[in-house]
Amino acid sequence: MKVVTTIQALAKEIQAAKQSQKTIGLVPTMGYLHEGHLTLAQTARAENDVVVMSIFVNPTQFGPNEDFESYPRDLPRDTALAESVGVDIVFAPSVEEMYPQDGGIRLHAGEQATILCGASRPGHFDGVLQVVSKLFHLTMPNRAYFGQKDAQQVAIIATMVRDFNFPLEIRVVPIVREEDGLAKSSRNVYLSGAERQEAPAINEALQLARDSFLANGDADSALAKAKAHIQTRTHGRIDYIELLAYPDLTPVTATTQQVLLAAAVYIGKTRLIDNCIFTVKEGL
Ligand code: PAF
Repeated sequence: MKVVTTIQALAKEIQAAKQSQKTIGLVPTMGYLHEGHLTLAQTARAENDVVVMSIFVNPTQFGPNEDFESYPRDLPRDTALAESVGVDIVFAPSVEEMYPQDGGIRLHAGEQATILCGASRPGHFDGVLQVVSKLFHLTMPNRAYFGQKDAQQVAIIATMVRDFNFPLEIRVVPIVREEDGLAKSSRNVYLSGAERQEAPAINEALQLARDSFLANGDADSALAKAKAHIQTRTHGRIDYIELLAYPDLTPVTATTQQVLLAAAVYIGKTRLIDNCIFTVKEGL
């Protein structure tokens, strides 16, 4: 496995792969890898000749009061883990390498970014699109791998790929969970012992709401059940719990087939997100 930190060194590797007609799978990450990321890499490994993993904590997707500075970082550990799952190239640039100057030009995520996480993190998805579009140009992947845990991010990136004709396929890999159901996240390390015990209530609440919605099609009562579960089982503060049509992220209607049930909850100071996506077979 090679670790490259400059765009020039990455370009050399990509050029060599393209010249020998190899397919490229890209796994974009912000590092501090957990099993979720490793599953993305393993899926990419099975489907491509060359697997590139980017490890870059992207400042442009963090708000001024968010955790950019304190976001966990451990490149030696990450590169060892990446190698263990068969990654060929780790691209770990500095902020200066990715953003040497600011020409003021930004991609702007549309309607899909105004709700859910976008409502409480203004500009977040613009920053995600900025870095992901750069990574797409730099690695020219045939396929790019994202986790379903960030369902809104996946929907918005898929829209960018469609609207800007990126010649690649977005592959979505299911959420990887701890044994007690908590979705794996780099931010789980922030949780105290007591908070960690409460955190699985988010997934439990989503399951309750899904079962309730599938039983009677009533979104309001499903969401009320989920909220009550979180409020009684945790000291957390609910940012949102919502049911939307997926991947459009529009309100659920009688013709909706795929539903996203998504939640963001502050457990202590840590904002955790989780979701489930399910099919409504007969319509509502
Ligand atoms: O999902 C993430 O970790 C990030 O948003 C991504 C896609 C790597 C862009 O920085």
